[in-house]
Amino acid sequence: MTLTTDAPAPRIALVGATGAVGTALIRLIEERGFAYRDVRLVASPRSAGRELEVDGRPYRVEALDTFDFSTVDLAFFSAGSSVSRTWVPSAVEQGALVVDNTNAFRMDPATPLVVPQVNAHELGRRPDSGIIANPNCSTIPLVRLLRPVADRWGIRQVVVSTYQAASGRGHSGIAELQEASRVTLADPAAQAPAEEFTPTLAFNVIPFIDELLESGFTLEEQKMLQESRKILGLPHLDVTTTCVRVPVVNGHSEAAWVECNDVVDRDELVRLLAAEPEVTVHDATTPGAFPTPRTAGEPDHVHVGRVRVAPHNPRGFWMWIVADNLRIGAALNALQIAEALTERGVL
Ligand SMILES: NC(=O)c1ccc[n+]([C@@H]2O[C@H](COP(=O)([O-])OP(=O)(O)OC[C@H]3O[C@@H](n4cnc5c(N)ncnc54)[C@H](OP(=O)(O)O)[C@@H]3O)[C@@H](O)[C@H]2O)c1
Repeated sequence: MTLTTDAPAPRIALVGATGAVGTALIRLIEERGFAYRDVRLVASPRSAGRELEVDGRPYRVEALDTFDFSTVDLAFFSAGSSVSRTWVPSAVEQGALVVDNTNAFRMDPATPLVVPQVNAHELGRRPDSGIIANPNCSTIPLVRLLRPVADRWGIRQVVVSTYQAASGRGHSGIAELQEASRVTLADPAAQAPAEEFTPTLAFNVIPFIDELLESGFTLEEQKMLQESRKILGLPHLDVTTTCVRVPVVNGHSEAAWVECNDVVDRDELVRLLAAEPEVTVHDATTPGAFPTPRTAGEPDHVHVGRVRVAPHNPRGFWMWIVADNLRIGAALNALQIAEALTERGVL
């Protein structure tokens, strides 16, 4: 049981508690025994009054538009960027420290953008904005692996293709992939649903996520560049990406080419990556010994496989990355931020 009457444990609110990330956050709070003095579940008026359980106790979902944030110490926001833009400033004004899962404040200079395994040093004090931003779901696993590489060999360029699951669009994304797959299997000529994903994601791949920018890149692709630079503290890091939606229910993958300043020794690289916290390197040479979203295993680890230094250019290597976007890419990172704040006495 993680409900406690100890005074130092924070009173927490989970905004977006009914969503895919909110649901993962509730499960992680239970599994990791995160100590709280009170927990409040918040969502849209559509869900107000619905009952959900946390640590075996029932709680009624409350509507965000009437929620009083002066009654909590810490608020996790996972309800979309526009909701965060509207409501996070008033939550901060009412005294809550906010961990925001959306894109709304990530590039704000007064807001730290934190992956605890990389830049927990940013969590030593309450930020000026009252907000700590949680990075994009594909950026988090990538920077966790780039950090030791940058420290050891220096990085000249990173080229990434992502393979992002339907759950990146929340509950409705998962539901649409399942329904579109069912419709298409029954009749390949039938019109499959294509609202969350256009064209339909069933038996398809879509090289377009989020909105198109003037540069020709998408916002999702721009996030990976800007956020990696900010988290790693490398303002000139060259990261270029193609973000692709694939018909996988949950678990994002990435193929990353990393070109370094010096020649990379493969054995040392594998040792370095494997020594990172909560990273599993799948390095057997037997067929099938690589991670996939369905078979990677431990959902709270970043999984790496197919690590290969290019024979024609030994300063560069490829790696294949798999990580649970709802946990590592969102809820777990947010909770690990809260755990680090508690450990440091900031909460
Ligand atoms: N899915 C991922 O892999 C992932 C990864 C990183 C970051 N994120 C970010 O996390 C956020 C949530 O994503 P999700 O996948 O959990 O989406 P989701 O499954 O669609 O859930 C959305 C949640 O937000 C709530 N909500 C929507 N509009 C609201 C409003 N006007 N006022 C209050 N609550 C509102 C919903 O409440 P109702 O149930 O009442 O509608 C629901 O709890 C998004 O900003 C997303 O970008 C997601």
